[in-house]
Amino acid sequence: MNKIKILFVCLGNICRSPAAEASFTNLVKDCGLSNFFEIDSCGTSGYHDGELADPRTRLAAKKRNKEITHRSRKFLQRDLEIFDYILAMDKSNYAYLLKSVSSDTILNKIFLFRSFDKSDEYQEVPDPYYGTTKDFDEVQLIVEKASFCFLEFLKEKYPYLRQSI
Ligand code: 4NP
Repeated sequence: MNKIKILFVCLGNICRSPAAEASFTNLVKDCGLSNFFEIDSCGTSGYHDGELADPRTRLAAKKRNKEITHRSRKFLQRDLEIFDYILAMDKSNYAYLLKSVSSDTILNKIFLFRSFDKSDEYQEVPDPYYGTTKDFDEVQLIVEKASFCFLEFLKEKYPYLRQSI
């Protein structure tokens, strides 16, 4: 069976998207669904290529029992072909991705990650880079909740994910 390929995207790929990647990875693992997914993250800028996630992000994740080992990489045009769901952390990342869209098929893969959380009017994951410890902790909670809502969406769409639990 083809795996569902998920790509989380932010600007630097050292704060929000690695946090989202780790949260979603932990969630599907806890649900016994890891085998159905390939999960990755990237940044639109390439500013931090090859770097581990920001230490503040790794600390905030660790407090929530998440280990982040991802190394930053820049978004590649071919990611749009490879991945099934391309989840932007904010509207600026979303707009960047839209510039590379060449078909409706690809357009339909791109979402604002937080838009899956219908309980929340905010559709963006706020950038904590110039913020405080509290902002980094807040990002962890936001991406955990959005991960849960996104997995619920996927379970509706792919019944085999429900049967496997
Ligand atoms: P991220 O946060 O996009 O969530 O990884 C940022 C990381 C680095 C920078 C900005 C935002 N930067 O300007 O270097």
